Amino acid sequence: MPFARSERGLEVLSYRCCEDVLRDPGLAVGFEEMLEACGIGNGPAHASLSRNINNIEGEAHARQRRAIAPYFQPARVETMRQTLRRALEKRFVATRELGRCDIVDLVGRWLPTTSFCMMAEAPFEDRPFIWRMSDEVQRFFQMKTSERGVVERGFGELESYVDSLIAARRAEPGDDLISFLLAEERSSALSMTEVRDLVVILVLASTDTTNAQTACVFKALAQHPEQWRALRSDPTLIPNAVLEASRYEPGVWAMTRVAREPAEVTGVPLEAGTHLFVDFIAANRDPDVFPSPDELDVRRQMKRPPLNWSVGRHFCPGRPLAVLEMEETLRVALRQWETVELEGDLESHGAPYVISAERLPVRFEPAIV
Ligand code: HEM
Repeated sequence: MPFARSERGLEVLSYRCCEDVLRDPGLAVGFEEMLEACGIGNGPAHASLSRNINNIEGEAHARQRRAIAPYFQPARVETMRQTLRRALEKRFVATRELGRCDIVDLVGRWLPTTSFCMMAEAPFEDRPFIWRMSDEVQRFFQMKTSERGVVERGFGELESYVDSLIAARRAEPGDDLISFLLAEERSSALSMTEVRDLVVILVLASTDTTNAQTACVFKALAQHPEQWRALRSDPTLIPNAVLEASRYEPGVWAMTRVAREPAEVTGVPLEAGTHLFVDFIAANRDPDVFPSPDELDVRRQMKRPPLNWSVGRHFCPGRPLAVLEMEETLRVALRQWETVELEGDLESHGAPYVISAERLPVRFEPAIV
């Protein structure tokens, strides 16, 4: 069944219909509607999130995409691999004798915030703050009035933080993401408001999402010891395993779209005001695209990518970085751990929209290295 009605709107379930909806130029991403569902109808959080790259269309959106694209090219991201690998190795070695750890604590929160600090040349002491901001502001995805205070307070702190980063880079430019965006502003490719909004969204979009997806990848593999063994004996499968485990256990369960005018999508009429939930969690198990979808198979030959990073004009530009981070985490874990198993459930909040991982306790047998 490609669609289903639910209390919250129209659920888009099949892979093909999810793609059609995500690519449909007539449907809005709808951050305004999500913010309003949280009781946020105006103010700084509403203004910034409504005009950010993920929520706008047309020339302004295309211009911002062009402006950030060089910074997120796979070749540029690749330059971070060795540094992240060495840092991960030290971190894993430090917990080796314990035989157990919390994946969220060990890497989930630490790694994407480390990457952000490296990209922005921000102090590493800022990592816990960055993680907390991302977690708090992203709660607007939950569309609950109970989250209003957390979102607005978090946003205020985040914007002041971003302003201080921009001021520091303006005073002392470097070879970093913010200096790069400021250079775009000097060449009139971006306005100052766009630079500020982009830094805000890059903090928000890059950290909690990667934390959740990393925890989900480890959860999936820890539940399938035969897949862990296959990866240990053939580490060339790691890139495929990251995608397959992300397909099997996504961290972003659904993205929204809104029909602001009466519309039709793959033959289904939509009244104005219809909320659509593009359910990655269902599409990634569509048997027409992924045969035996309930099996985790790190050798799976995928003809289509899992939808976790979306498709179409809003496709996630941070995918190469997120994938690289997960590949390196898995590579180091596979070298250090002979076996891994869950010691408890994945603790998270935010489902059924974008999950935020809080804890994933695992037990492992250290490998002889
Ligand atoms: C596992 C980690 C990640 C996941 C699952 C993820 C997923 C997504 C999704 C689903 C979208 C929305 C697409 C839509 O509305 O159709 C998105 C947009 C975006 N993501 Fe990611 N993301 C991740 C990591 C990152 C990272 C590391 C960065 C940057 C460093 C990033 C930057 C962005 C930006 C800027 C957008 C807005 C793009 C646009 O609207 O044109 N993301 N991401």
